Amino acid sequence: MRIFSGIQPTGAKHLGNYIGAIRQYVATQEQGDAFFCIVDLHSITVEYDPSELRESTLSLAALLFAAGLDPERSTVFVQSHVPAHPEAAWLLGSVTSFGELRRMTQFKDKADAQEFVSAGLFSYPVLQAADILLYRTDIVPIGEDQRQHVELARDVAERFNARFGETLTIPKAVFPEVGARIMDLQEPERKMSTTGGTAQGTVLVLDPPDTIRKKFKTAVTDSGREVVRSPEKPGISNLIEIMAVARAEEPEAVEAHYDGQGYGAFKVDVGEAVVELFDPIRDAYEELRGDETELQRLLARGAEKARKASEPVLQEMYDRMGFVKAKTGRLFGAARPKRL
Ligand code: TYM
Repeated sequence: MRIFSGIQPTGAKHLGNYIGAIRQYVATQEQGDAFFCIVDLHSITVEYDPSELRESTLSLAALLFAAGLDPERSTVFVQSHVPAHPEAAWLLGSVTSFGELRRMTQFKDKADAQEFVSAGLFSYPVLQAADILLYRTDIVPIGEDQRQHVELARDVAERFNARFGETLTIPKAVFPEVGARIMDLQEPERKMSTTGGTAQGTVLVLDPPDTIRKKFKTAVTDSGREVVRSPEKPGISNLIEIMAVARAEEPEAVEAHYDGQGYGAFKVDVGEAVVELFDPIRDAYEELRGDETELQRLLARGAEKARKASEPVLQEMYDRMGFVKAKTGRLFGAARPKRL
């Protein structure tokens, strides 16, 4: 089975990224042939600082390995190292409609937050479809907020196949059973995010332990004092899901454990569980981030594997679409074309 997912390098990685995505990557790498892509080409579609892109790309690579991606099992690579991605995106752009892209909720949300709305932000889901389809991907582990983008990738693949012949594999999105949408601790009606959330309500994977404890202690809870999930209690429901993941328990077991104990003690315990979850990752990260030569070596190897896997699919797309193949070899040597 082929597994593919992507994650942006810009913006510090948070508990939502970890629970919704990274933890799933680590679990799915056991199930097949996995590719995980640091999508730097996606990161430039909104305002960003070029002087920070390099650091955030290497830092994310270190974090992914620290969280448990095994370079012997998974192919971890940087998107811009594999030119097939933007090339395939251009081809797929011709089987994606303007209307489909205009309906993407992430585009609408991000566009509202930008003064300058780039064409890249608009066509972003086409590049994401290219990422996925170039690897004949069966499953795409993601958080809930990426559902619509993967649905678009499926539609685009189906349209390509219908128009040019069976070429692309139709991918399926997979979500974690618990924690597909981790919410901001201060404003639990919105998802945890470094761009759209609050600083105090966003727990970073690399936050110092005391910062993590404080963020949970000050988490907004709801009226009442029962530790149970309910649509009227988005704050507590979110904390229960986080605790369930951090302690590897079912949410029901968390509720049973805190029955009658009130919110205060529960919040302290969730903070502690997350500190314990992130402690080993932070230690491993520090070590890996310190060895830049090794990181670069791992990424170079990943890029080579990714180029090998994606190139035949890109060539097949070109062929199916009717492009003339570029001839290689000594075209103008012995076989020089005759003058007319
Ligand atoms: P990105 O970089 O915003 O997020 C990376 C992953 O983290 C998940 N996630 C969350 N999960 C649960 N709760 C949250 N609060 C939360 N916030 C983020 C996301 O769902 C995602 O899985 N467009 C993508 C990157 C991408 C991609 C791809 C993903 C590019 N090409 C191909 C899959 C396949 C994005 O911006 O993710």
